[in-house]
Amino acid sequence: MRKRTKIILWGVWLVGSLAFAGYLLSMLYGKADPALMMPGPLSDGHHQLADDCAACHVNPLGGGEVLQQACVDCHGDVRKKPFDSHPAAKFKDPRNAPQLAKIDALHCVTCHTEHKPEIIAKNGLSQPKDLCVHCHADVADDRPSHVGMEFATCTSSGCHNFHDNRALYTNFLVKHLHEDPIKADGTVPAREFAGVVGEIMTYPHDRFPVQALTAGDMDAPTGAAVTPGIRRDWLETRHAQAGVNCTACHMPPDASGTPMAWTDKPGTAGCAQCHDLEVKRFGQGKHGMRIAAGLSPMTPDQARLPMKPDVAHAQLTCLSCHGAHRFDVVKAAVEACTGCHDDQHTLAFENSPHGALWRKAQAGEIDGDAGVSCATCHMPRVDFDVNDWMSRVMVDHNQSASLSPNSKMIRPACLHCHGLGFSLDALADQALIDRNFNGQPKVHVDTMDLAEQDQKRRRANAGGDDAGMFGF
Ligand code: HEC
Ligand code: HEC
Ligand code: HEC
Ligand code: HEC
Ligand code: HEC
Ligand code: HEC
Ligand code: HEC
Ligand code: HEC
Ligand code: HEC
Ligand code: HEC
Repeated sequence: MRKRTKIILWGVWLVGSLAFAGYLLSMLYGKADPALMMPGPLSDGHHQLADDCAACHVNPLGGGEVLQQACVDCHGDVRKKPFDSHPAAKFKDPRNAPQLAKIDALHCVTCHTEHKPEIIAKNGLSQPKDLCVHCHADVADDRPSHVGMEFATCTSSGCHNFHDNRALYTNFLVKHLHEDPIKADGTVPAREFAGVVGEIMTYPHDRFPVQALTAGDMDAPTGAAVTPGIRRDWLETRHAQAGVNCTACHMPPDASGTPMAWTDKPGTAGCAQCHDLEVKRFGQGKHGMRIAAGLSPMTPDQARLPMKPDVAHAQLTCLSCHGAHRFDVVKAAVEACTGCHDDQHTLAFENSPHGALWRKAQAGEIDGDAGVSCATCHMPRVDFDVNDWMSRVMVDHNQSASLSPNSKMIRPACLHCHGLGFSLDALADQALIDRNFNGQPKVHVDTMDLAEQDQKRRRANAGGDDAGMFGF
């Protein structure tokens, strides 16, 4: 080829490549509808991010590691011990590293790709169900009970998970053998924000010391459209009783700490001064993930789950459940949810034993914390670290965190009131979940029996200290 022709061809290639990169960039960051550039729809976990390609494709020209970093930035806090049985650290061990040649378990996209709905199953999994065989092919060699088991059954409900096995490891199962299906006097732990707020250093104690306020203390500027209803709702509820004056929400501080001008529509930034953990967790689940990504709030009309048509355009914010100025936590726990959700499981709650329990608790017939609401299971009260030296029982505002695989719900919810064996059976019974737990489980999971056999075997071979997950 002549030198001149070569130069022209290179030029054409260069211009073409730059134009394509520019096209990609304009799609990713520009005004054109970016969804048109997607090779296929996003998975259920991420479909809300379709307006924000850059949430994952941080740099449109960067592949592998850039994408990996995006996954870790959003999910990294639970991809380590004790929340994860296969964290990256496990494969840094030279004894395990050779397994990576069979399947690259260090990169999330190996098992969770995107834009390919045809291969993506529950939990965003894009590998065949029997993927455990790559590394555990010889599991039955030391575990007589596992002889003949199909690898596709490893992750059946109540057996094992790839990531979170906190309710499924042998010692835990053994500790919970032979528990009553329904424990006497089961309650969830009490909320404790009010009791510890004095010790939380990031709380704005200077502006709003914890003390009961009266109508005369109201600090709304003259001209604010205060109605008697607002005044009453505020006075009768916890904020006024804890020193949270009108300007706390309506004039939150700017970056320099100076209170901003009064607004009639305060956003979540105001709440975050005092409820930073609730705001953070809300942003990590499907209710708040769009706000956290800087997008407009989620609305039911964009949902893949069934929703009530009359709230199609309701924006999902703190107020969807708490409504100013009562910030009611009882209404938030059932009524708010059923105002939007419209699936079989949700609709079955009212006539379930738990629904009856909830009404009794609200009527004062039983302990308030013995009731079961939607929030008891989906927004459980969990002990969270406030900082390095302090934790508190807090309502987990990430309603996705305990959802799936559903064994993640056992420790923060069921175990307060039910035995482990009963809970595993109930959560393996899809028809029972659809009826919102109205009735006895019709499915039996072998996990507890295998753990018991293993305990006997270990005792018989006393000295053989086999405490691993695959003990049975
Ligand atoms: C939740 C994260 C996520 C979001 C949001 C996302 N993608 Fe992707 N995208 C991925 C993953 C994962 C892959 C597969 C990469 C692989 O297999 O190496 C991918 C692949 C692609 C590819 C194929 C080229 C390549 O790099 O492999 C294109 C094109 C693409 N995405 C465009 C988009 C566009 C346009 C949007 C926004 C409308 C978008 N993506 C939103 C995660 C995401
Ligand atoms: C901007 C934050 C963000 C980024 C970036 C992100 N995710 Fe997610 N992801 C979420 C949220 C929020 C959910 C929904 C709540 C949940 O299921 O935890 C979710 C859900 C998931 C799920 C569960 C899907 C389901 O149907 O249950 C998987 C698996 C997942 N993400 C993997 C990844 C991988 C792999 C990447 C990188 C390619 C990634 N995520 C990038 C925020 C993010
Ligand atoms: C070797 C395969 C594999 C790799 C690699 C992998 N996952 Fe998973 N992931 C799974 C399987 C299997 C499930 C289904 C639930 C289970 O078994 O834990 C799952 C479920 C999930 C879920 C939903 C359920 C949950 O427990 O939160 C999220 C989110 C998730 N993975 C994120 C990630 C992220 C982020 C990475 C990378 C740091 C990653 N995964 C790497 C196999 C994998
Ligand atoms: C890339 C290799 C790899 C894959 C794939 C893999 N594992 Fe593992 N797994 C390991 C290693 C390494 C260990 C630690 C050594 C051991 O205990 O055998 C381990 C340990 C475990 C443990 C014990 C965890 C603990 O904390 O003691 C369980 C449970 C487990 N794997 C289940 C699974 C299941 C279920 C799958 C399939 C969804 C799976 N593994 C897929 C490599 C893998
Ligand atoms: C804990 C936070 C908080 C406190 C404290 C608070 N407000 Fe509000 N207020 C809100 C929120 C949030 C809205 C927005 C409601 C909406 O968007 O529908 C609001 C709305 C309003 C509005 C607009 C009209 C309306 O009903 O939407 C007025 C006026 C108002 N508040 C006055 C007050 C006064 C006066 C006080 C003190 C007695 C007060 N607020 C205390 C959070 C608060
Ligand atoms: C200046 C700090 C401050 C701000 C700002 C603030 N709160 Fe509060 N909030 C508190 C304190 C303190 C309590 C605990 C009061 C108690 O239980 O005695 C509380 C309690 C609550 C409760 C529980 C009420 C109950 O009946 O148990 C909810 C819900 C709540 N806040 C929501 C919000 C929302 C939503 C916002 C933003 C619109 C907000 N708060 C803004 C300090 C604040
Ligand atoms: C999906 C409904 C829902 C949304 C949205 C919601 N909350 Fe809540 N919130 C609840 C429920 C239900 C409770 C009480 C649960 C309980 O008592 O166990 C609660 C409790 C609280 C409490 C008391 C927590 C404690 O540990 O004492 C605070 C504070 C609070 N919410 C703040 C917020 C803030 C701030 C937002 C917005 C980022 C928000 N909530 C959004 C349902 C919601
Ligand atoms: C304003 C309407 C609204 C309210 C109120 C509401 N939700 Fe949701 N909820 C949604 C939307 C929208 C989604 C996202 C569905 C999707 O992405 O397909 C969602 C998702 C969920 C999910 C699925 C999470 C996942 O990771 O798959 C659960 C569980 C859930 N909500 C439970 C509740 C509970 C419990 C309450 C009450 C405490 C509640 N919701 C209140 C609209 C609402
Ligand atoms: C006793 C615990 C419990 C109670 C009470 C409960 N749920 Fe559930 N919910 C579950 C379990 C378990 C699942 C199934 C998770 C799985 O296996 O994927 C589920 C699933 C869901 C889903 C579907 C999520 C999806 O991605 O398909 C929604 C929405 C939901 N619940 C909302 C509610 C609402 C609203 C209420 C109250 C009216 C409620 N739940 C009461 C335990 C509970
Ligand atoms: C705060 C306590 C509490 C929590 C948390 C709780 N339950 Fe229950 N549950 C009960 C009580 C008490 C009953 C019996 C009610 C009755 O018979 O009137 C019950 C009944 C049931 C039933 C029906 C049993 C029957 O014989 O009809 C099932 C199934 C069930 N629960 C499963 C679960 C699962 C699964 C979880 C966790 C996701 C859970 N529960 C969380 C207290 C609780």
